[in-house]
Amino acid sequence: MLSRSALRTLTPSSRLFSSSAPRQTKVAVLGAGGGIGQPLSLLLKSDPLVTSLSLYDIRGAPGVAADVSHVDTGSEVNGYAADHLDEALQGAKVIVIPAGVPRKPGMTRDDLFNTNASIVRDLAAAVARVAPDANILVISNPVNSTVPIVAATLEKAGVFDPKRVFGVTTLDVVRAARFLAGISNASPNDTPVTVIGGHSGATIVPLLSQSSYGKGVTGDAYAALVNRIQFGGDEVVKAKDGAGSATLSMAYAGAKFANAVLRGLNGEKGVVTPTFVKSPLFADKGIDFFSSNVELGVNGVEKIHPIGQISAEEEKLLEACLPELKKNIEKGKAFVA
Ligand code: NAI
Repeated sequence: MLSRSALRTLTPSSRLFSSSAPRQTKVAVLGAGGGIGQPLSLLLKSDPLVTSLSLYDIRGAPGVAADVSHVDTGSEVNGYAADHLDEALQGAKVIVIPAGVPRKPGMTRDDLFNTNASIVRDLAAAVARVAPDANILVISNPVNSTVPIVAATLEKAGVFDPKRVFGVTTLDVVRAARFLAGISNASPNDTPVTVIGGHSGATIVPLLSQSSYGKGVTGDAYAALVNRIQFGGDEVVKAKDGAGSATLSMAYAGAKFANAVLRGLNGEKGVVTPTFVKSPLFADKGIDFFSSNVELGVNGVEKIHPIGQISAEEEKLLEACLPELKKNIEKGKAFVA
């Protein structure tokens, strides 16, 4: 049973930020000059739980920082250029990573591996050196592989804490709620959907049977909804026609997840949301990273919820998810080994 506050957490379009009194919390964005990084930095500047914002990119971060710093919220903002990564990370409690190349039409997320794997590994190595206790929120794709890369890099440096490394799958959760609301003639507030598995195509498994609106969707409408949740990113890539993938909705999702992590760190109870973490749920099948509902707390991951009861259709989706996810995870680990 989820507590009342947990249910509130899952409410999709309730206020983007909710907060109690802020603590001293420095948040760093690595890749702050990019399509996601810029609006994400702006949204984080508006989050009352962020007291200091550190913006780093190999291109353009000081400009983004100067711009965002004029917003009249309490946090201080600093921008760091290419040679100043260590300074950017100093004292950071939460580090959000949207650095790396996005997809173009016809590409899968896995096609990004060759470029993004080394970017993420090198950033994780710097975090291990400068801010080993930070919570790391990985946005860079392919998330199914970049999260194991971050974990393995920290492990190599002897500082891996499985409670503090998160793959951001919130955009899948945001899309699922929005798309279900669209076909249910309801508000997204009333159509939260738990999305499990990973973050790419068939590895994205929405548990519509656990939603009061979702369980009423059957037949062709069900198949179309699942497909749209799994491949919603492609709609954006296609519409942007070579100019990249989701940036604005991703910035929203990233800020929402960062706020959930900050609320947990701040001691708020019952903050529960899906995220891709080191997980025991399918470890017996050799899959040691998995997204399911996770309770966030003062130490990062507080509790990994089981997936609960699922329908026969969802069993099939999970069957398709697991082998692909396993391959993606192994590819990430092999890269670091
Ligand atoms: P972008 O190309 O607009 O921005 C990426 C930024 O990363 C650039 O400013 C670039 O200078 C910077 N960068 C590159 N190497 C760096 C390094 N070593 N250190 C610091 N910064 C570096 O790309 P966009 O659209 O912002 O996407 C970023 C990543 O997010 C992509 O990998 C994309 O696939 C992923 N993404 C993830 C989603 C998710 O749901 N987790 C959703 C959408 C995109």
